Amino acid sequence: MTTSHPLTQDELKAMVGRSALQYVVPGSIVGVGTGSTVNKFIDALAGMKDQIRGAVSSSVASTERLRAMGIPVFDANEVESLAVYIDGADEIDGQGYMIKGGGAALTREKIVAALASRFVCIVDESKLVPALGRFPLPVEVIPMAAQHIARRFSTLGGVASLRMKDGQPLVTDNSQHILDVRGLTITDPLAFETEVNQWPGVVTVGVFAHQKANICLLGTAHGVKILVY
Ligand code: A5P
Repeated sequence: MTTSHPLTQDELKAMVGRSALQYVVPGSIVGVGTGSTVNKFIDALAGMKDQIRGAVSSSVASTERLRAMGIPVFDANEVESLAVYIDGADEIDGQGYMIKGGGAALTREKIVAALASRFVCIVDESKLVPALGRFPLPVEVIPMAAQHIARRFSTLGGVASLRMKDGQPLVTDNSQHILDVRGLTITDPLAFETEVNQWPGVVTVGVFAHQKANICLLGTAHGVKILVY
């Protein structure tokens, strides 16, 4: 007798991680994001490492995992463009706009995404939202500007808090800090990203609208659903 059980979130992540392999172009260098879903993708990518030249990574953590799997990692400055960038998200809406940065890697993620012709987002279905803003918005900031930027968010109705780790402000791979902003409703992601990105001291805002997803592989109880934007 077989028993069926609903797939766990971890199993959904593994499913979309494997599914993303279909977008990897043989012989190419692959853009690789950061996070627990991408970790599943990296594990799957190891199975075809002889068919790719290597990867450009968006974080120290992903670089370490790729190298541990024997996948060469190139500096972003060594490549002119990438066929595909594969990454998770904290939220994605019906147009492919995303909130990212829950893992603090948003700045490098946006840089690698900008190099790629196609952004394939891999998420479980809990991340699909009607409008961005339920997940606290990560913003990487220059430390001396953090409180000024927090006050600017309060004029938009947001409440910003400094992300902490082990009792200290979290320090990103770029030696900066992260503000998490709660209470925002982001009705126009393109305009919001453009506006916040030019505030002095903002390194990167975690709205990915200019670098939105082209494809979303959504892990559901009924398998992987492919959303094309
Ligand atoms: C990393 O900074 C983020 O942008 C991740 O892509 C995002 O937090 C998704 O991570 P999980 O796959 O772990 O949910």
